[in-house]
Amino acid sequence: MKRILTALQPSGFLHIGNYFGAIEQIVDLQKGNENFLFIVDYHAITVPQDPKDLRQNILFAAATYLAAGIDPKQTVMFQQSRVQEHTELGWILNCIAHMGELERMTQYKEKASKASRASKASTVTVGLFDYPVLMAADILLYDTNVVPVGEDQKQHVELARDLAQRFNNRFGETFIVPDVQLRKAGARIMGLDDPTKKMSKSATSPKNYISLMDDEATVIKKIKSAVTDSEGTVEYNPKTRPGISNLMEIMSLVTKVSVEEIQIDYQGKGYGDFKEDLAEALNVWLKPLQAEIQGYLANPDGLTQILEDGAIRARSIASEKMSIVREKIGVAL
Ligand code: ADP
Ligand code: TRP
Repeated sequence: MKRILTALQPSGFLHIGNYFGAIEQIVDLQKGNENFLFIVDYHAITVPQDPKDLRQNILFAAATYLAAGIDPKQTVMFQQSRVQEHTELGWILNCIAHMGELERMTQYKEKASKASRASKASTVTVGLFDYPVLMAADILLYDTNVVPVGEDQKQHVELARDLAQRFNNRFGETFIVPDVQLRKAGARIMGLDDPTKKMSKSATSPKNYISLMDDEATVIKKIKSAVTDSEGTVEYNPKTRPGISNLMEIMSLVTKVSVEEIQIDYQGKGYGDFKEDLAEALNVWLKPLQAEIQGYLANPDGLTQILEDGAIRARSIASEKMSIVREKIGVAL
């Protein structure tokens, strides 16, 4: 039995990239494994958060995981900030992490340059820079074997591997070196308005993404305006035809029909027909999920109870690991 761990930020709504790149994979892996899934609220505050929104977003994330099929009996589901060992181990790992390796992180470079473009005064926080180290702590604390993530997080998991090895070399065998597991199809859903960049919550236009909470009319409008090209045929080639290929991948994910079959089905048909069918398929897929999410949100006390039960289980593992770590580095007297 393997220990599988992953986490998502509670930064507002979730989009279909988050769903297919992360949540669905975790749901599929639940059986036969030991699973950890948590809401990384302390990662979220690396960029400014409105406290009222943050609280709501944490509840929304929990409701979404449950609606997607996470079973809290099979998966230890909790809120990162409720298990203090994450920040404690994060600090210790800070003291073996190198500035240079964090400066190389693609996501940091992208977010930092966006932040400094947005305002002349530097708004890049130390937290944003240090975020991958906290993520390494999240992973290493639980003797994780496998970390399922989207492609954009691969570099961060590699840092966790490097820090585990460095710590083990310096202080003796302590951490398991985790493997990253990338989802194959749909590892990276691209933006609807710019298929050369990944779909992202932080995109400037809502036309970039399909939110899990988008209503029927919005989905139709967004798919209609999705960027394609002037070729007009429904053919898959992510390199030369990123727009239509991305839409075909989305169709494949929601209908479970392969991209090859979709291409055959739409021979001789144009973008209009395909987009109409895609919007409909997305809506058919979204409706029951949305109803479930709303159901959980109607009972916030029930949700916090589930999260607290998870935190109790997580804490018992994390605190044991931290005792070992304190011992190894020489602060336990
Ligand atoms: P965003 O860029 O929308 O803010 P996050 O960085 O919070 O998304 O990512 C949360 C999770 O969802 C990660 O595991 C990430 O790999 C996955 N993910 C995010 N965007 C996509 C995407 N466009 N395609 C596939 N997976 C994605
Ligand atoms: N940094 C990840 C993201 O933004 C979330 C995350 C935090 C994570 N800690 C983790 C993912 C540990 C996997 C394992 O998507």
